[in-house]
Amino acid sequence: MSRERTVELDVRSTAASEAAKLDLSRLFRLLTVPVHAPRRALLQRLAALGVALAVRPAWPAAGELPLSAADFCGSGGRGRRLWVPGDDGYLGRLSPGERPVTLLASATRSPSAAVSRGPLGYATRTRRRHYTNPTIVLQRGQRVRVNLVNALAQPTIVHWHGLAVDGNNDGNGSFLVKPGGRYAYDFEVRNRSGMYWYHPHPHGLTAAQTYGGLYGAVMVEEDDERALRAALDLVPGRAEIPLIMQDRGPDTYRATPHDMTHGLVGSDLYVNGTKCPYLDVGSRVYRFRMLNAANARTLLIAFRTAKGALLPFTLIGNDGGLLPAPMRCERAFLATAERIDVLLDLRDAAVGDSILLQTLAFDAMHLEMAHAAPADPHAGHATPTDAHAGHSPPADPHAAHAHSAGMHLPASAWPDGAPRALLELRVRQRIAFDRAIPERLSTLPPIAASSVAERTFRLGFADGRWRINDRVFEMGMPPIEVQRGKVETWLIRNDPSSMPHAMHLHGFPFEVLGREKSPGDVAALEIDPQGRLATDLGRKDTVLVWPGESVRVAVDFSHPYAGPQAYLFHCHNLEHEDGGMMLPVAVV
Ligand code: C2O
Ligand code: CU
Ligand code: CU
Repeated sequence: MSRERTVELDVRSTAASEAAKLDLSRLFRLLTVPVHAPRRALLQRLAALGVALAVRPAWPAAGELPLSAADFCGSGGRGRRLWVPGDDGYLGRLSPGERPVTLLASATRSPSAAVSRGPLGYATRTRRRHYTNPTIVLQRGQRVRVNLVNALAQPTIVHWHGLAVDGNNDGNGSFLVKPGGRYAYDFEVRNRSGMYWYHPHPHGLTAAQTYGGLYGAVMVEEDDERALRAALDLVPGRAEIPLIMQDRGPDTYRATPHDMTHGLVGSDLYVNGTKCPYLDVGSRVYRFRMLNAANARTLLIAFRTAKGALLPFTLIGNDGGLLPAPMRCERAFLATAERIDVLLDLRDAAVGDSILLQTLAFDAMHLEMAHAAPADPHAGHATPTDAHAGHSPPADPHAAHAHSAGMHLPASAWPDGAPRALLELRVRQRIAFDRAIPERLSTLPPIAASSVAERTFRLGFADGRWRINDRVFEMGMPPIEVQRGKVETWLIRNDPSSMPHAMHLHGFPFEVLGREKSPGDVAALEIDPQGRLATDLGRKDTVLVWPGESVRVAVDFSHPYAGPQAYLFHCHNLEHEDGGMMLPVAVV
């Protein structure tokens, strides 16, 4: 236990004197995790958990819905009105056009009553408007100029997650902005219409800074987006609402060795900075643009009526923008850094109805604990001895571990995979609405990926570290080299004794070609013979790969930037990323 170290960061101070004292390499030695082999500690925790799990968990079995809205503080009038971003303020929409934007990474002033965001934020002002974490609205083809100013007591850098930019504008952490320093981004928008985002990327500090509240959305628009809005009369802030979700606990980031292995899950969920939110709606079609900005938590998104029935929704987009055609869904996984764009048809709702957006129960598959129990791959999850285990069908190979989420009991009151209502929609108004959802949303040619080179990436855990192809990230390590202009397929294989990893590639949206050996909760959502999910369609920049599963993607490494360009491929569980589950990628 003596080797356990809690990573605790308080980055709120902006004192310049502290800034001067910062020594980068020392900081990295101190903060880059892990922490060697916390395995013994984990074994001890596991033993303790054997006891904890004998108690019937407070959440229902996988696939079940919470019995009522009782688990949700939004019911019974105790909820808070959802913060809906406007034209200024927190997450306010900012269309910079050709004007440069200055983002000041800083401790934010005392939070307003309306939102309880983290202690950090990106402050911006333009003309007479003030913003925190602005939603930056861009047109495809436009030039973007952003000045990042660092008023934190730590180095930082902004990464434009999902944007296809050159290495110098990617913010991959190969150079950092010192406290008091600044960095000028200047790039052209080459992405499709869609929701992208920005967040810090200083290696070893990414988790703490993002957790602290440093993140915002980027909306890219082109003709397909404008056509969709016109067809459905979608006005941002009215019937089109971003839902940026982050789970948090206390303001100060504290990651225990347990958190560093599994990822830190917080006890409360904030949607646009609102805890227990509700939104008054009318009987029409709504568009919700969701971003999972959590450090590590995966959500299984669904809507349900007060009677408990799932209310299907229409998936129209994901990480890589609008899908070619809408897809009807009942539920969708949303891993850290992923986005989904959904339409919810409330035309049949009556005034007074209540609809809940929620995350359903699922098996979070923290099978890495199986390292502790060679005899039975699921023994690490200490099957509860009560009748509860009987809820899972025997055909499900993970039945014994329907409550693997319980592994996180010591770290969180709300384990990964446990259900919760996220947002209550209160129907307040009849609205005459007769628009139809378009049958075509966008055009998107497939990536020509037959007979191209394939690389394999193995995800696994050894000696206390998560690894890609047995390697742990270090500054200056040799990159994976790919040829500019070439298409490759990447086979991402997760070890069976692992946990889900949300794998993200910088700079190049990819196409998911197929999934193999998907676990039950995932296979249940397959929509084609390749094993893909509706959320895999179109383009992606982050894909969740489950234990034992293999996901094949096609990447087109074409771009207009001459000379070698540096990117990254990593797990977006931010504790895994900071812990080195990341490889540099050089496009040469
Ligand atoms: Cu969203 Cu490398 O990050
Ligand atoms: Cu776990
Ligand atoms: Cu991971």
